[in-house]
Amino acid sequence: MVGLGYVGAVAAVALAHSGHEVLGVDVDREKVAAFQQGICPFHEPELPGLLSSGLAAGRLRFQHPQEVTVPLGEIILVAVGTPSRPYGGTDLSQVRAAIQWVRQRRPGPAVLVMKSTVPPGTGRRLVDEELAGTGLRYVANPEFLREGQAVRDWFHPDRIVIGGEDEEAIDLVKKMFAGIKAPVLVTGITSAEMIKYAANAFLATKISFINEVAGLCARVGADIDEVAYGIGLDPRIGPSFLRAGLGYGGSCFPKDVRALEFCSAVNGYNFELLRAVINVNNRQRLLPLQALRRVFGTVKGVKVALLGLTFKPGTDDLREAPALDIGRLLIEEGAEVRAYDPQVAAGNGHPLLPGEIDLRTSALEALQGVQAAVLVTEWPEFCELPWEQVVQIMVSPRLIFDGRNALDGRKLIELGFRYQGVGRGGA
Ligand SMILES: NC(=O)c1ccc[n+]([C@@H]2O[C@H](COP(=O)([O-])OP(=O)(O)OC[C@H]3O[C@@H](n4cnc5c(N)ncnc54)[C@H](O)[C@@H]3O)[C@@H](O)[C@H]2O)c1
Repeated sequence: MVGLGYVGAVAAVALAHSGHEVLGVDVDREKVAAFQQGICPFHEPELPGLLSSGLAAGRLRFQHPQEVTVPLGEIILVAVGTPSRPYGGTDLSQVRAAIQWVRQRRPGPAVLVMKSTVPPGTGRRLVDEELAGTGLRYVANPEFLREGQAVRDWFHPDRIVIGGEDEEAIDLVKKMFAGIKAPVLVTGITSAEMIKYAANAFLATKISFINEVAGLCARVGADIDEVAYGIGLDPRIGPSFLRAGLGYGGSCFPKDVRALEFCSAVNGYNFELLRAVINVNNRQRLLPLQALRRVFGTVKGVKVALLGLTFKPGTDDLREAPALDIGRLLIEEGAEVRAYDPQVAAGNGHPLLPGEIDLRTSALEALQGVQAAVLVTEWPEFCELPWEQVVQIMVSPRLIFDGRNALDGRKLIELGFRYQGVGRGGA
């Protein structure tokens, strides 16, 4: 397994649990050292337990690429990062470096399984340009796991997509997944790549769609919760991804939607819907600032608490989290911003967070003495806050901007807060 991030580490540990012998490599020495000691360097439920048992069973090893002396095995999985370039394209340098390393190790007739999300057409190019004459057979096997429930998703996926051309290689990858009950879909390489992007783009579209409806609900006096529930009962629509709020973030949706739009553009296709999805999502991040301006006139000097920073509950991942933009916008306008997140330690700050954000060690500490609070991530502990106590420690006008429509607005108003949700009617 080349690359031990959220995807690679989960896959390595889960494959060992299924009885395979797994070597995990990563260029990040600290990460490798942590895994060697049985420490998971990021938060992912269930992973630490499986990591310990895999190490104890002797089926799981971790090494820095420069230290690897053993043969690479029958299947070489690549799960390195594929971040965005500033113009929306995909930075494939980690993928190319990983393949280069594999090639240097002369692995013989192994199967190279691409788990990284790479733009449609990438696999074909890699086969023609980088793998020709190496004996490596290429299979695209996009990953659909969700951070926060990645281990569960690995063992209970909705589907396993195997994109390839070589029957033997496809069969070997099927064998790797033996024991996992899920429909297996065998496709061409580019179709497999497209399935991953189209799936993420569709989910992002659902989120932006419900946010558009929420914007209109607020103007006509409808309630987005009732509307979302009402449309979600239609099985053709389904209830998931219909929660209005501050929009999507994280390491996948934003970059994958941008990458698909870029891929469309370079292929001479104008994918209009995706542009709108991106624009709506960017706009949602302005909502807290707009709500505060409406109440305070200017946010200069206003003390604001951000409740939650990660892009969703259940993870410690801050990549492209709405909280980063929301915090930055408030700071630029002169607000005093503090924050609390159960998975982001106070103290030394966080490399992705603007330094001006004052990280606190509890929600109550963050809320002490602020005029406004923005619920950015719907961690369960925020829904269960002792609001009777919070109303005492916040100061007037006690504005709560519920960016995830997760709180009981009516109860908060009764307690004396000014409450504003997204498309839920106002304070
Ligand atoms: N995070 C998710 O929820 C998720 C879900 C599905 C798919 N994906 C896709 O899977 C891929 C990996 O995502 P992630 O979140 O695990 O990324 P990540 O950034 O958390 O991890 C990537 C790892 O690869 C390592 N790496 C980089 N270059 C390397 C090299 N040449 N050799 C060895 N290791 C190298 C990095 O040090 C890092 O530890 C991406 O393409 C992503 O889009 C991610």
